[in-house]
Amino acid sequence: MAHVGVVFGGRSVEHQVSIRSARAVAHGLRQAGHRVTPFGIAQDGCWVDAGAAAAVLEGEQRTIPPAGKPIAPTVAVLLGAGVEVVFPVVHGSWGEDGSLPGLCEMLDLPYVGPGVTASAVAIDKLFTKRVLAAAGLPVLDCEATSRADFERRPGAFLERLERLPLPLFVKPRNGGSSVGVRRIDDRAAAEDAVRFALRFDDLVLVERGVSGRELECAVLGYGEIEASAVGEIVPRAGFYDYAAKYLDDSARLVAPADLPPATADRLRHFAAAAFAAVGGAGLARVDFLLEGDAGLYVNEINTLPGFTAISMYPRLWEISGLPLPRLVDRLVAIALDRHRDRRRLDVAIKSWLSELP
Ligand SMILES: Nc1ncnc2c1ncn2[C@@H]1O[C@H](COP(=O)(O)OP(=O)(O)O)[C@@H](O)[C@H]1O
Ligand SMILES: [Mg+2]
Repeated sequence: MAHVGVVFGGRSVEHQVSIRSARAVAHGLRQAGHRVTPFGIAQDGCWVDAGAAAAVLEGEQRTIPPAGKPIAPTVAVLLGAGVEVVFPVVHGSWGEDGSLPGLCEMLDLPYVGPGVTASAVAIDKLFTKRVLAAAGLPVLDCEATSRADFERRPGAFLERLERLPLPLFVKPRNGGSSVGVRRIDDRAAAEDAVRFALRFDDLVLVERGVSGRELECAVLGYGEIEASAVGEIVPRAGFYDYAAKYLDDSARLVAPADLPPATADRLRHFAAAAFAAVGGAGLARVDFLLEGDAGLYVNEINTLPGFTAISMYPRLWEISGLPLPRLVDRLVAIALDRHRDRRRLDVAIKSWLSELP
């Protein structure tokens, strides 16, 4: 039994999803016998007190509205509660991007999920591509532009896109929930799509679009990485955009996906390898695009995947024989192991220093 702090809400566009994920995580932790203290982060980044956070988690509230207080002093809420492990359930920016792991590192608190580097690389679609390509993993070809370069010479970037066949997908570097993502089937729409994506980030990627299947695999582990059964997202029309994810529930989530065993095995192998390549620990959902029968590409790595009642990550583990309470229990155990190892390094360095003449 551990005393686990579940941190949720936050400043990103995925604030509301985070609340739903946190409800499921807290429930699973309690079922596994852990004590849970919730920590809610309002939409402006302020940490609300434990009572207010519990009310959100136990109730129907969909957001934690801006609290209008300075952020830094409110973090005392976390320190005051005396938790043994932090379970960060904050999707996207100011959370999943490495900032929450960073905060836990500074406070010397064990936490669930990958460390700062893996989290920061995985949320960055351009760095992820570079790291995965260097590890020999298949990723889609892309072109990228910064806002400054695009403003200076938009024509030069649009010309560079000519080598990529249509359709194209335009996306912000650090996106999530498909915010800012557009599919374009006509080059005349490229400029507008790049400007749109630049509203959400300072750097935008344009990649070759795959007309095929969208597959997902859950990974779990520390050192030795396990990969789950494979799931499939089937959007009703177009692609898996923000509306399909959260507004109209139109996409179907199929698990397990109907795939030849050899393809599923290859995908699982790539999922674990991609996670290892970014230095992952704990958990991630690795998303793929499958073109035809054999064109498999890693699309992205989500180090804090959705945990809602219908989310793919817990569902893939459930069908792989690991129900939610055991899943979150494993994640807590990994967090404690990792923290112990980090401590050992710290002790080793200090003892080496003390032995120096
Ligand atoms: N290269 C691509 N080919 C086909 N579909 C894509 C491609 N890139 C993105 N998509 C579609 O857009 C969705 C969102 O893109 P993704 O890269 O996963 O960003 P996010 O981090 O916002 O989820 C994907 O789930 C998929 O439906
Ligand atoms: Mg995605």
